[in-house]
Amino acid sequence: MTEPDEPIEVSSPVCYAQEFEDYNRPAPLPAAELAGFLNVLLESERAGARVLARWCHEAGPDAGVGADTLAAVRDDEARYCAGLTEHLTRLGAEPSHVTGRFYDKAMTIAAWPDRLRFLDKGQSWVAREIRDKLPRIEDTALKAFLQEMLERHEHNLKLCAV
Ligand SMILES: [Fe+2]
Repeated sequence: MTEPDEPIEVSSPVCYAQEFEDYNRPAPLPAAELAGFLNVLLESERAGARVLARWCHEAGPDAGVGADTLAAVRDDEARYCAGLTEHLTRLGAEPSHVTGRFYDKAMTIAAWPDRLRFLDKGQSWVAREIRDKLPRIEDTALKAFLQEMLERHEHNLKLCAV
């Protein structure tokens, strides 16, 4: 029997809060799934870089966005190709050499407002995918890289908005 002056042990609400947080934390992406995700991004960025390399030379007054802006976005896409390749290699995965289907589809579009709308669709998809997967990525360096990539895509989406 408990003596009246014996302290009663209770669980701290802070402990419960930690357990609740751990329980609700999304499961980290398994290595194979993470490599697959990074390779899909790599293929998409490669497609984006190739598309913009073409389009920045074809941008006239009707483009709605300057050739310099398109060239800057192309450079960002190329930088993310290099970064994704580095992270995949560091994580022991094979970087894909495929160019995403975005490139072939983009090459069928001749009119400028339609080109920018298609670019917006592709860049928005990349941003959405990163936003969705970020909570499941634990590697600190990769997380920081993808966060910067997400913010840059959001910035470029505004630059190329039609
Ligand atoms: Fe992109």
